[in-house]
Amino acid sequence: MNKILNVLIIALIGSMAYTCNEPTAPEETQTMNTYLEQHRPQFHFSPQEKWMNDPNGMVYYDGEYHLFYQYYPDSNVWGPMHWGHAISRDLVHWEHLPIALYPDSLGYIFSGSAVVDWNNTSGLGENGKPPLIAIFTHHDPEGERAGRQDFQYQSIAYSNDRGRSWTKYAGNPVLPNTEKIRDFRDPKVIWDERAQQWVMVFAAQNHVKFWASPDLISWAHLSDFGREWGSHGGVWECPDLFPIEVENAAETKWVLLLSINPGGPNGGSATQYFVGDFDGKNFTLEEAFATSVKEENAVWLDYGRDNYAGVTWSDIPREDGRRLFMGWMSNWDYATVVPTTVWRSAMTLPRKLSLHKTEEGYRLFSQPVRELEALRSATHELESIEIVDELDLSAQLAAAPLLLEMEMEFEPGATDPVDFGVELSNEKGESYRIGYDAEANHFYSGRTRAGDASFSEKFAAAVHTAPRLSTDEAIRLHLFFDVASAELFADGGATVLTDIFFPSEDFNQAKIFVNKGRVKLIRGETHPLKRIWQ
Ligand code: FRU
Repeated sequence: MNKILNVLIIALIGSMAYTCNEPTAPEETQTMNTYLEQHRPQFHFSPQEKWMNDPNGMVYYDGEYHLFYQYYPDSNVWGPMHWGHAISRDLVHWEHLPIALYPDSLGYIFSGSAVVDWNNTSGLGENGKPPLIAIFTHHDPEGERAGRQDFQYQSIAYSNDRGRSWTKYAGNPVLPNTEKIRDFRDPKVIWDERAQQWVMVFAAQNHVKFWASPDLISWAHLSDFGREWGSHGGVWECPDLFPIEVENAAETKWVLLLSINPGGPNGGSATQYFVGDFDGKNFTLEEAFATSVKEENAVWLDYGRDNYAGVTWSDIPREDGRRLFMGWMSNWDYATVVPTTVWRSAMTLPRKLSLHKTEEGYRLFSQPVRELEALRSATHELESIEIVDELDLSAQLAAAPLLLEMEMEFEPGATDPVDFGVELSNEKGESYRIGYDAEANHFYSGRTRAGDASFSEKFAAAVHTAPRLSTDEAIRLHLFFDVASAELFADGGATVLTDIFFPSEDFNQAKIFVNKGRVKLIRGETHPLKRIWQ
């Protein structure tokens, strides 16, 4: 009898707990209950569920950073593309919004950009407020299947409610594919202050095209760039164009970002860039930069395998003045088969780009945005010490998962060329190493023993390397480790490397290792980080 009563009471409590939970909005429940799955990034943006690739339409308006992204809501592999949508007020915490753009009779919604049409040049604004205009590629799968060459073209959509709802322009496409170029996509639109016109740059197979418009609706061809420049190991995608002031100099240069797949420095997808001038019609390379591109084939934004299709935010207020960038933290070599279940892919951390005149010429540096400091749950100082073998940090840092930022400055020993870095590990004997090899003068990232790599032969075939640009004696490492990624900003952002990994159990230990020679840790700080999804 007692037993039966017990069972009844337990069942009653169970059903009460269930009913108590019920009133919670489904969206809230999802946010609270998910984001703890295996390999789920804890402080990087990832969709709640299903497939994501490129960041799209990044624009700042009315206190909100918009992030749209290539999204397929029906599967965790690529499919008919939509624009997913999220917003942030601080670039750190993200709120998911409903899908912004759905495929239609003109095709899937491929990558593109968004702008604030401050002067309502398009006439699509309402009530004296500027509309947000999204400019994207329509990709017609039927045209492609039918063997046509002109199945990609540029279209626009507009929003008059702070990006909450979008209407496709009735006259789409605004830029048809009259040249019949198969790869004709990924428009990035900017307001060219000097020439007082909208400029669209988009990728056309092995080059980019510049077009101009007074109103975002009627477009005229300006020029082409790139057939004879840069890396052509794969198709060109997702360009970006912006002016940027050179650090510590009273001059402005124009930068053209250009993603390419495959052909990256460590294989597969990656982003190269060009520095030059844009006069309202033509993009021309800066002289020394042209020489570098000729000699090195390409200059890369990030040497890791996992930063692709990144572009910068539009309409960052003048008083802020930063050029803010975010990329897709994956690689087409294996993106569709990485071992995540509920969702697939995350974005890189948001970064500030700056242009520096170095001994090698003009180079873009990337640094994590300062807003990320809000994630620090503590700060531990590292004492200055000479390290011969290793410095175990687990007393300070042991945590599962390890969510960690490290800032350190090292002085290499005078005698043997040093090889040192940071190692993450778990009880399963899996480890990930990111470090610097003085003999080769490069940084490197080794995920060959970092866990699951069975899903693709291309994933952990080799250690990834990134040439050191800085000639400073001291070596500065700024590192971010999330559950499934490492981002290295070396020497103040001069060399950058982003890689993902999939340990079978979360890494929970960190140490500084020395492989060869000896190194002096001059100063350092470690910051355990908070999750962003609570
Ligand atoms: C880059 C890309 C773009 C295209 C989109 C499709 O990763 O191939 O060129 O617009 O993805 O999802």
